[in-house]
Amino acid sequence: MNLSENQENSEAAAMLPDLERTSWEQLLASTEQKEDQSIGSGFKTMTLATCTSRGADSRMVVLRQVDIDHKYVWFYSDARAEKVLQLEAFPMASLLFWDNKRQIQLRLTIETRLHTDDFIADDHWGRLWVGSRKAYLSEQTPGTAQPHPYPGFPDQFIDSLPTNEESETGRKNFAVIECRVLAMEYLHLSRKGKTRACFQYEPESRMVWLAP
Ligand SMILES: Cc1cc2nc3c(=O)[nH]c(=O)nc-3n(C[C@H](O)[C@H](O)[C@H](O)COP(=O)(O)O)c2cc1C
Repeated sequence: MNLSENQENSEAAAMLPDLERTSWEQLLASTEQKEDQSIGSGFKTMTLATCTSRGADSRMVVLRQVDIDHKYVWFYSDARAEKVLQLEAFPMASLLFWDNKRQIQLRLTIETRLHTDDFIADDHWGRLWVGSRKAYLSEQTPGTAQPHPYPGFPDQFIDSLPTNEESETGRKNFAVIECRVLAMEYLHLSRKGKTRACFQYEPESRMVWLAP
């Protein structure tokens, strides 16, 4: 490798921390935007992929909180849902984000920890408005067969919000899933070429460009 190649490589390596920081900031910004997907970042929702005793499973969830400094993200679920049972058995999982506007995919390798009956769940529940709490008022266990379409909460709330007191029934069904991010993989699509990089945090810190 000649001197100028060496310099180019070190300049390319120096760009990695900025790219990593920007990606985390884009995740954080998505948690601060309103529900309307059409005007915001695609990072507001993500696909959670889990392991099961029979293989793998996946579904969409909403990104609720991001800690850039400590590399954590959080999402919520009904505590009785299949994904929670799966994460209890297999805490390692993956989160997949796609921002169509920016043409960026982020793939997070995570280790999860469930919070149901503790102060962390209490704290998140306390910050949830009644409209969001409505999702935890189901009298039926998620995923169980029903004789007719069921909206996921009692009929009385189809056209109205619960009062703060009524919403408290949902607390027992509420789970916070804390995700320690072990690695983040970045992919940007462009006609000029793809850009792919890996940011690893555990077991050791490492940033590297990858062939797409
Ligand atoms: C855009 C979108 C966002 C969703 N957000 C959540 C969420 O934050 N938490 C959640 O438990 N389910 C969410 N769901 C529903 C899940 O994708 C899934 O259908 C449900 O939680 C049952 O999954 P499970 O049986 O694997 O637990 C969302 C669905 C969509 C389409």
